[in-house]
Amino acid sequence: MRVLIVKNYSEVSIEAAKIVRDIVKKKPNCVLGLATGSTPLGLYKELIRMHKEKGLDFSQVRTFNLDEYYGLSSSHPQSYRFFMEENLFKGINIKPENTRVPDGSVKIEEVEQYCKEYEELIKQAGGIDLQVLGIGGDGHIAFNEPGSSLGSRTRLVALDEKTIEDNSRFFDRVEDVPRFALSMGVGTILEAREILFLATGEKKAEIVAKALEGPITSMITASALQLHPRVTAILDEEASDALRRVAFYRFAADSEKHVGIKLF
Ligand code: F6R
Repeated sequence: MRVLIVKNYSEVSIEAAKIVRDIVKKKPNCVLGLATGSTPLGLYKELIRMHKEKGLDFSQVRTFNLDEYYGLSSSHPQSYRFFMEENLFKGINIKPENTRVPDGSVKIEEVEQYCKEYEELIKQAGGIDLQVLGIGGDGHIAFNEPGSSLGSRTRLVALDEKTIEDNSRFFDRVEDVPRFALSMGVGTILEAREILFLATGEKKAEIVAKALEGPITSMITASALQLHPRVTAILDEEASDALRRVAFYRFAADSEKHVGIKLF
C-alpha cells in the first residue's frame, strides 16, 4: 500500500485530484467509483476547478457511487444522489446518464434484484478503474459496518449506532438519520483496479492506524484494503498520527520522486 502523508485537508484534496485527473486523461471513458461524506468534498472541488480552468474532460467518464440511504428519494437534500449533483456533477461536464448512485427508494421486495443489477451494471461498464473511499469512525468503507463479510456484495445493510450518530450532523435530529442503506460490499470494492483511500483529521487517527497496520478483520472493514494490490492512502498529518511506520511511509514517498515509479 502506498501511504502518502501530506500537511492538511487541502493538500489531501489536491493530491487525490491529481490521481483522478491522471486516470481521466489516460482513459477518457474510465469508470470512477465515488464516495460521499465530508472527506471527498475538497477533492470534488478541485476536480471542478480542473474542469473549469484546465478543461479536464468528463464527457465520457462513467461513475458508480458506493452507497445511498435506504428510504430517501434522490431529491431528498440528504440523499447521496443529491450530494453528488450538488458537489460534483453539476460542476463538471459529465453526462447524467453516465452517473449511477444506488436508488434508495426501490421497493423492499425489489431490493435484492436491484442490488444484483447494480453489480451487473458495474461489470457491463468494464469494472471500476479507480474507487475513491473514505473511512467511517467505526472503520467502515462504504456502509460495510463492523461484522460485514469481507466477501460481501451490494446489498441492503443496517447502519451501526456509531454511523448514525456520526452522520446525524447532516440531519436536524438524530432520529431523522435513516437506519438502513444500500451499499456496495467489501468484495465489490476490492474488485476495483485501483483504490484511492482518503482520511483526514485527528478523529480518524486511531481507526486509520487499525485499518492500515492492524490485523485484517471484518470488525474494521477498511482493513480489507490490505488485500488489494493497488491502494494509495492519502492522509493528512492529523489522521496519520497513530501510525507506527510514518518514517517508512515518508521514505517510500520520497523515493518515488527519485525512481519515478509508484511504490505500492
Ligand atoms: C460515503 C461512504 C462512507 C464515508 C465515511 C466517512 O459514501 O461510503 O463510508 O466515506 O463514512 O465519512 P466522512 O468523510 O464524512 O468522514
